[in-house]
Amino acid sequence: MKKAWITPDIRTKAQQLLARLSLEQKAGQMTQYDWGFNPINPDTGLSQRDVISEQIAQGHVGSVFNLAGAEEANRLQKLALGEDGEGVPLLIGRDVIHGYRTVFPIPLAQASAWNPALAGATAAAASREALADGVAWVFAPMIDVSRDPRWGRIAESIGEDPYLASAYAEAWVRGSQIDGDGKGNDDGDGGDGSGDGVGADTAVASCPKHYAGYGLAEAGRDYNTVDLSDRVLREVILPPFRQAVEAGALTIMASFNEVNGVPACANRYLLTTILREEWGFEGVVASDYNALQELITHGVAADEEEACLLALRAGTDVDMASGIYIRHLPRLVREGKVPESLVDEAVLRILAVKLKLGLLERPFVAPSDYATDERLPAEHIALARQAARESIVLLRNEGGVLPLSKSARAIAVIGPLADSRKDPLGCWAFDGRPDDVVSVLEGVRQAADQEAVVSYAKGCEVDSDSASGESDLAEALEAAGKADVVVLALGETFEMSGEARCRTNLDLPGGQRRLVEAVSKLGKPIVAVLLTGRPLAIPWLQEYADAIVQAWHLGVQSGHGIADVLFGDYNPGGRLTATFPLNVGQVPIYYYRKKTGRPPGGVYTSYYLDSSTDPLYPFGFGLSYTSFRYGEILCAKPRVALGEAFELSAQVTNTGDREGEEVVQCYVRDEAASVTQPLKKLVGFRKIRLKAGESEVVTFVLGEESLAIIDADMNATVESGDFTVWIGPSSAEGESVRLTVEAPAQ
Ligand code: GLC
Repeated sequence: MKKAWITPDIRTKAQQLLARLSLEQKAGQMTQYDWGFNPINPDTGLSQRDVISEQIAQGHVGSVFNLAGAEEANRLQKLALGEDGEGVPLLIGRDVIHGYRTVFPIPLAQASAWNPALAGATAAAASREALADGVAWVFAPMIDVSRDPRWGRIAESIGEDPYLASAYAEAWVRGSQIDGDGKGNDDGDGGDGSGDGVGADTAVASCPKHYAGYGLAEAGRDYNTVDLSDRVLREVILPPFRQAVEAGALTIMASFNEVNGVPACANRYLLTTILREEWGFEGVVASDYNALQELITHGVAADEEEACLLALRAGTDVDMASGIYIRHLPRLVREGKVPESLVDEAVLRILAVKLKLGLLERPFVAPSDYATDERLPAEHIALARQAARESIVLLRNEGGVLPLSKSARAIAVIGPLADSRKDPLGCWAFDGRPDDVVSVLEGVRQAADQEAVVSYAKGCEVDSDSASGESDLAEALEAAGKADVVVLALGETFEMSGEARCRTNLDLPGGQRRLVEAVSKLGKPIVAVLLTGRPLAIPWLQEYADAIVQAWHLGVQSGHGIADVLFGDYNPGGRLTATFPLNVGQVPIYYYRKKTGRPPGGVYTSYYLDSSTDPLYPFGFGLSYTSFRYGEILCAKPRVALGEAFELSAQVTNTGDREGEEVVQCYVRDEAASVTQPLKKLVGFRKIRLKAGESEVVTFVLGEESLAIIDADMNATVESGDFTVWIGPSSAEGESVRLTVEAPAQ
């Protein structure tokens, strides 16, 4: 169970606050409005903000989000506190998904760094900047496991693996829940240093989302039905959320989707049975945007009143944006349709979070070194560059065309994203500004020698293949013709991934393929740099590009991160955390698939007539400018008793001529279990840095957590029998050993 953070002192203070509230004010604490949505009511001529402001003054609003800065935050806090200062401060929220004004790589990119600590650092930086603007509640991390690149929000995810997503969930929660002084909450500077992500003076609440199963929307279509077994729910979907709770997440956001017939914000099994009764979560559950209203659209509520009752009884504490709680709860309580005690429980949790964040003592925004009105904090820019570098995955490098020589005489940087400053910001960058972004072109120009001629041509449109591209194409061919090497900056705009941005075609959009084919006819070395929010299915690109660099949407330091890799100032160490399919027909495709009774291979087996079942690039894959050799796996005790752990190690050697990073991955397969098991599942990883010729012995200890399965009765248990364990560079390679957990003597 998560260590209790609601101390007796917080509980007492919350109860004292609760006692002062009217029924309407209690319902108000459970109400959150979108300040950014401000239509004018044609009948009254009043704006939505006029109405909300009046409600805030009456204490009928507990939280707002999408404000614009510290001044507005302070103004609304004054309104909430009232003349006598006795009002309850607002909890101000915002989507701080991968940065605030300093925009970091999208989460799927940061995941590719296999560096949760780095993601924790970017989350802390984002919280520092957001807190300087009055934001005390960040709607992050997004930890939905997704296996479907058609789904636009895979960009916001950590990818397909629950173990890796759990590691990131923990780091992101701890990182984002900074202390009031803007430092991490483990720095012992007043935080209780308990390392549980909730320091004594935590000032920002995280909000892991979207609980649960949102990433498995059918057909990769956003908001679509999610129907999954309790097994997949518990084996795949829930582990990152459980880790987030264990890390001390103060709030959680329920997802839009139904889970097995019941939309999450009305799903008592999810919100109360699992989250609170099994896991001991003490914090606040918020609905997603207008999700209470959508219970009517889903068809599980006949009207707002029923939606209100369903959500409250399931365990949704805060109603985001619909206003249903404030419109109906007071009356429903007075009519005896719902006990006030249920309302009190929700409000107590909300007040506890506000007390935990110090809002009652410090409702106003304090001056901060991290205010970003004028400039980005230098330390955050440096962090953004490091995060960009580590997020990049080298997918192909034939003939050693990379790294480029800085003394290259002429480099042509071509493509519709080459000079873009908006697209590298990615899909959730409300507060990012294109002027702060370093484009690919700029990064290459600044990295190349002064004498080098770096030319640019757009080459084509990214969102259409219109014939008007002829002039663009001609310009590109002219630039390429004069160059020693061509860097093609290709991919997707920032609007082609993210929420409500799903695609059925996983190819490069617009006229990009035509551009690649035309440029390739000139016979120049081609480096393709992919700026995308998702894996693409582009096997054809390998026929034209000597090198392929997966560069995602990398945030403000995109161009420098990419140039650092292209010119070898940074040796790429990224590894994929979402499988790249050969074609969209294979989707969903992910590495931890089941064996089935007929694995691919032969006529009557699980295969396709018209495609391989193998991916284009597998989970965990990525190349380097150096090379690594794995020694045999050593295991002193290959047979252990139930309850004992295996200890395995392998020596990894850098056999190349330059320093590099390797992500050493450990996978397990339970060869014969009481329920079917994946072909392999990630149970450990270690990112190591080795100088040329250097070796390191990497050790993994595999205990219950690594070996357990969820049995037919849905209990986690280690079963005796044989296991295969791999230690290697990806989910598709690596040496393995056979180990045995011995059954207890009869
Ligand atoms: C959106 C998203 C959610 C976000 C919320 C507030 O629809 O689903 O991730 O936090 O609404 O913007």
